[in-house]
Amino acid sequence: MSTPHKDLLKSAQAVRENAYAPYSKFQVGAAVLGADGEIYAGCNVENAAYPEGACAEANAIAAMVAGGCTEIAQIAIVKKGGGKVAPCGGCRQKINEFAGADVPIFVQGKDGALQPYTLGELLPVAFGKSNLETDI
Ligand code: THU
Repeated sequence: MSTPHKDLLKSAQAVRENAYAPYSKFQVGAAVLGADGEIYAGCNVENAAYPEGACAEANAIAAMVAGGCTEIAQIAIVKKGGGKVAPCGGCRQKINEFAGADVPIFVQGKDGALQPYTLGELLPVAFGKSNLETDI
């Protein structure tokens, strides 16, 4: 397991301050290290029409793609205050579009420290691009 890039946690912690979460009050920050060496940050942005809200990871990934990078090297996900966070199922799928099974996902645990996982651990038997290439 690789160690997180030195600025990854700081970047996720900084962006969570901008999270717009007036409904859930659950402020999340995500930082993605792209294969280009850049860090892309995103926070959750909720909406009065609840399903229109977007997760921090989705917004960080969107920033990465907008920045011209389509490969994730690492991700860190943190929330404001103590307690655990974990990427939702939809975000695991979004991460899978741009990351291999061995890519580390560092997640804020109960004690506030980052817990390392891999995408393969969080999304086993994933559906991805390769499934679309199967000709049956
Ligand atoms: N949320 C994220 O942004 N990322 C996660 O990993 C888990 C959940 C957001 C969605 C919603 O705005 C709030 O947290 C509560 O679910």
